[in-house]
Amino acid sequence: MVMAARTAAEFIPDTADLDELAASAQGCKGCDLYLDATQAVFGAGSGAAEMVLVGEQPGDQEDKAGAPFVGPAGRLLDKALLAAGIDRDRLYVTNAVKHFKFTRTERGKRRIHKKPSRTEVVACRPWLIHELMVLQPDVVVLMGATASQSLLGSAFRLTAHRGEELSLPPVEDMDVLDFDPRVTVTVHPSSVLRGPPSERDKAFDALAADLRFAAGLLPQKSR
Ligand code: URA
Ligand code: SF4
Repeated sequence: MVMAARTAAEFIPDTADLDELAASAQGCKGCDLYLDATQAVFGAGSGAAEMVLVGEQPGDQEDKAGAPFVGPAGRLLDKALLAAGIDRDRLYVTNAVKHFKFTRTERGKRRIHKKPSRTEVVACRPWLIHELMVLQPDVVVLMGATASQSLLGSAFRLTAHRGEELSLPPVEDMDVLDFDPRVTVTVHPSSVLRGPPSERDKAFDALAADLRFAAGLLPQKSR
């Protein structure tokens, strides 16, 4: 007998209510990341959003606050959205993985972000797919390798595809997506913060340019 891989799928209620989904994510045991995190951090934003931004996973501050992109990466993202002329109130922002993965510094004080494994990303993907199916956005922006590879496959290299208009391939073991959003990829906002200070302005401008490109893919009426 082939054992089905453990995923979030069995924890997802059959509902199109985002609040109900968010509440259910608190009970998810689709992988082991729920064990050490404070809480699941579900997506947030307008239920009528035409554009969805996808990051990697909550960070230290998001884990405590229970909301995505409220820490340093979120502040950088807010600035880039402002530079791109995009109103964050019209977006829905979420992550590929809903629980914070971290290691502790030697004395246990600080929690350091750890990249989620492929298994964890695939385990959590049903939440992301479900969010997208409920929202039916026109445009999906995948920020960073984790988000990109969650939906576009583990061989996907985002640096080779920035500024391109892509679409979602069929996702294995998933309900077929019954809509066809335009998809673009860009770097993760925290990569701008982590990069060399001399490169920061350039990296920031490139992120803002990618976001502007994404906004340009929205239907004319809503730009
Ligand atoms: N980084 C992410 O990818 N997501 C967040 O919510 C915060 C930081
Ligand atoms: Fe479930 Fe995702 Fe949390 Fe894993 S990271 S327990 S799949 S919500």
